[in-house]
Amino acid sequence: MAELQEVQITEEKPLLPGQTPEVAKEAELAARILLDQGQTHSVETPYGSVNFTVYGTPKPKRPAIFTYHDVGLNYKSCFQSLFQFGDMQEIIQNFVRVHVDAPGMQEGAPVFPLGYQYPSLDQLADMIPCILQYLNFSTIIGVGVGAGAYILSRYALTHPDTVEGLVLINIDPNAKGWMDWAAHKLTGFTSSIPEMILGHLFSQEELSGNSELVQKYRNIVTHAPNLENIELYWNSYNNRRDLNFERGGDITLKCPVMLVVECNSKLDPTQTSFLKMADSGGQPQLTQPGKLTEAFKYFLQGMGYMASSCMTRLSRSRTASLTSAASIDLNRSRSRTLSQSSESGTLPSGPPGHTMEVSC
Ligand code: BEZ
Repeated sequence: MAELQEVQITEEKPLLPGQTPEVAKEAELAARILLDQGQTHSVETPYGSVNFTVYGTPKPKRPAIFTYHDVGLNYKSCFQSLFQFGDMQEIIQNFVRVHVDAPGMQEGAPVFPLGYQYPSLDQLADMIPCILQYLNFSTIIGVGVGAGAYILSRYALTHPDTVEGLVLINIDPNAKGWMDWAAHKLTGFTSSIPEMILGHLFSQEELSGNSELVQKYRNIVTHAPNLENIELYWNSYNNRRDLNFERGGDITLKCPVMLVVECNSKLDPTQTSFLKMADSGGQPQLTQPGKLTEAFKYFLQGMGYMASSCMTRLSRSRTASLTSAASIDLNRSRSRTLSQSSESGTLPSGPPGHTMEVSC
């Protein structure tokens, strides 16, 4: 059988008057480097303006990878380690990435005036259509951590046709119960806001280990010049309402989901696959970018977006029996996600699930 081959097509662009091909090429290269370094935009929404940074050049018929960060972080401190991880490059070169900064979280953000009404998490989700409209993107693959995972899930529930897939890291889909509020009040007496946020970002084990990473993030949160803004996002997070996922009901995520940690009890287990990772703590995108990258690759491949030729040798040999993806676009059958255990190297039995769980 003839093998599919990648063909490089060079776009012909007319030269400007007096422009030599060399100068045109240099200008194009400069523009591309600029795009690859990320371009920050701001759009007005009914709930105030929101900043986002775009990397990569648009690819026809491809969703954007759309990220939303957790409380206490911004897109860079949350996602840079993952998106600049070596093996991630072969994945993201195929997608435009849109990284949102929640209002007031962008680098250099001015502190909101006293009494400013910060948007609720639902309202933050309602800002997303303005960003997609501005960029002319009709669909996304969302990647969210903590509060960001909640926001993207809320968006996916209200705009299911525009979300092709979701990577949800450490999502807590429930509102705080009165027990949580009591615990929150008690810790509030003894802990500062930055300490409470660090307690949300990292496990107790990680905090007491006080690794360089924890020290770095403690420093970032404690000395943030926009700490007042961070507190507002934190309050919105703590006032979130239940996402009310219903297994098999109307309120459910319609797209494939790669779930990192918990939440499985709310999702249909017959549709759930497992991929096990160890010791990744509260921020696996910072501590385990390699494992997350590998899982993401499987996830995209299950959606028909990664050619097997793009897979690492390791991934290829493990997944060969589950998929016959031969080219990036021909295989886009939405055949759902494959899964495996990256620790044991064993493949699960049964059909690939709609949802993939990565427990850390
Ligand atoms: C990206 O390439 O998508 C990226 C680069 C730097 C920080 C975050 C994301």
